Amino acid sequence: MTKLLLRALAGESLPTPPIWMMRQAGRYLPEYRATRAQAGDFLSLCYNPDLAAEVTLQPIRRFGFDAAILFADILLVPQALGADLWFVTGEGPRLSTVTGPEDMARLKPATEIHERLAPVYETVRILARELPGETTLIGFAGAPWTVATYMIAGRGTPDQGPAHKLKNQDRTTFTALIDRITEATILYLSAQIEAGAEVVKLFDSWAGSLKGADFDDFAVAPTRRIIAALKDRHPSIPIIAFPREAGERYIGFARATGADCVAIDNSVSAEWAAQHVQSDGCVQGNMDPRHMVTGGPALVAEAQRITRALRGGPHIFNLGHGITPDADPANVAAMIEAVRTA
Ligand code: CP3
Repeated sequence: MTKLLLRALAGESLPTPPIWMMRQAGRYLPEYRATRAQAGDFLSLCYNPDLAAEVTLQPIRRFGFDAAILFADILLVPQALGADLWFVTGEGPRLSTVTGPEDMARLKPATEIHERLAPVYETVRILARELPGETTLIGFAGAPWTVATYMIAGRGTPDQGPAHKLKNQDRTTFTALIDRITEATILYLSAQIEAGAEVVKLFDSWAGSLKGADFDDFAVAPTRRIIAALKDRHPSIPIIAFPREAGERYIGFARATGADCVAIDNSVSAEWAAQHVQSDGCVQGNMDPRHMVTGGPALVAEAQRITRALRGGPHIFNLGHGITPDADPANVAAMIEAVRTA
């Protein structure tokens, strides 16, 4: 096994960590904006295998990252389950809502997602062929709680209020929705693996708003169920879990879910993660994405501090969240240089 990312995921401590970046294919790159314009809009880009593969490859060509992440979106699963989905420019996603048993009854069974998602599997097949030999291909899906927050509210929300309300007031509908997304996610990620994804990542961007037993029931349990099913079908595929803003709950998350790696956001320190999270295995993270906008000596110092703090165990260098559209590509190159010379 020679690919750097797979070595870190297998538990190896490396002198130089593998590097990739959340949202590495995105609006901060002029070539991404050009290809998106060619596709027409964001969703058309997601469902066009040639162009989706092209934007996945763009940051690999420009920066030589150690991993490529499939270009798609976590909200394609709700759409494959029958939800309406569209993106409002400058605002974000909009979906038809799930607020009661009638809406739940209108969703498709999980086994019917593949027709809609077939172009995504084709993108994975193209990438498996075209990526450089040293680059690892990462597939992904949203974790059930995070996907449910969008399906219930019909949009992004600052506090996930509508999802918490449904969870507390109509537990039957809420858990039926979590279960449906869980089943669909298992089938979706299995299909990505069969098409050529070498690693998969679960994005639980809103895990931090689940407290106490809710965190166990709706962040840990569905993740554990997905990982167990994937390991059963594909025992050698490593899985990265990202329960964003889990704070203290990052501790033991890998053990509780079976994840090979826990991705951490930048609200916790790399030194703290080295002590409390890395003891269970690989840690991915966690530079503040703002440095990709501001650059300068602070960026270099921060990249080197994180690299050194996590050098005693398996580490994948990444940002704590996605790179933003206002980032300067020159700062990405400076980050990579800083990590590789730390
Ligand atoms: O490069 C990559 O990381 C791979 C592709 C990827 C996208 N979205 C492309 C995208 C991945 C892994 C995602 C995950 C995703 N999508 C998450 C989880 C990670 C996170 O950011 O917390 C979430 C919550 C979504 C849902 C989503 N998609 C939102 C809320 C938005 C609008 C906000 C925004 O940044 O515009 C999107 C759109 C989106 N997904 C874009 C990209 C490149 C921007 C769309 C555009 O090009 O106009």
